[in-house]
Amino acid sequence: MNPARSIVLIGMMGAGKSSVGRCLQRRTGLARLDTDEMLAAQFGKPIAEIFGTDGEEKFREAETALLRKLAPDRPAIIVTGGGIVLRRENVALLKKLGVVVWLTADQETLFERASRRNDRPLLQKENPRTVYSELFRKREPLYAAAADVRIDTCCKTHDEVAETILARIEELAAR
Ligand code: S3P
Repeated sequence: MNPARSIVLIGMMGAGKSSVGRCLQRRTGLARLDTDEMLAAQFGKPIAEIFGTDGEEKFREAETALLRKLAPDRPAIIVTGGGIVLRRENVALLKKLGVVVWLTADQETLFERASRRNDRPLLQKENPRTVYSELFRKREPLYAAAADVRIDTCCKTHDEVAETILARIEELAAR
């Protein structure tokens, strides 16, 4: 299946955006643009180091500047960082880019997945569970408002999530 519009993945850390993005890339043959990967390349250092040395605000500014410039000549799979919905301008830019797909699950599952990696600067705190809970509470309504499609990823493999996304997009296109 080759979607007519880009597929934009949003959701909390641990939602599976990067892995599902790779499955979608494989299934559709479309290019994959990962904003975190692009920003790490741009700064020449990993995200955690950008947060540590340049600060979160610099990262957020660069994230928005990147979105403003992002204009793939063909539909693509666009993978975003969890905080992308914090700025209203970003949401408007994402909506212009394509179908916005929100990957989610219950908070416990998301947190458990997010804590498997230790390179997420926002969770390198004394009480990561509390931090996560607060981010979840603040961001849930933002994801909900931004999304065209919401996918529950709980109990699904990345590949099953990718399959569900493509089916939902086909349904939307047929309407
Ligand atoms: C962030 C999520 C990260 C990354 C940065 C900030 C966030 O991406 O952009 O650490 O604010 O939730 P993932 O969602 O891919 O972990």
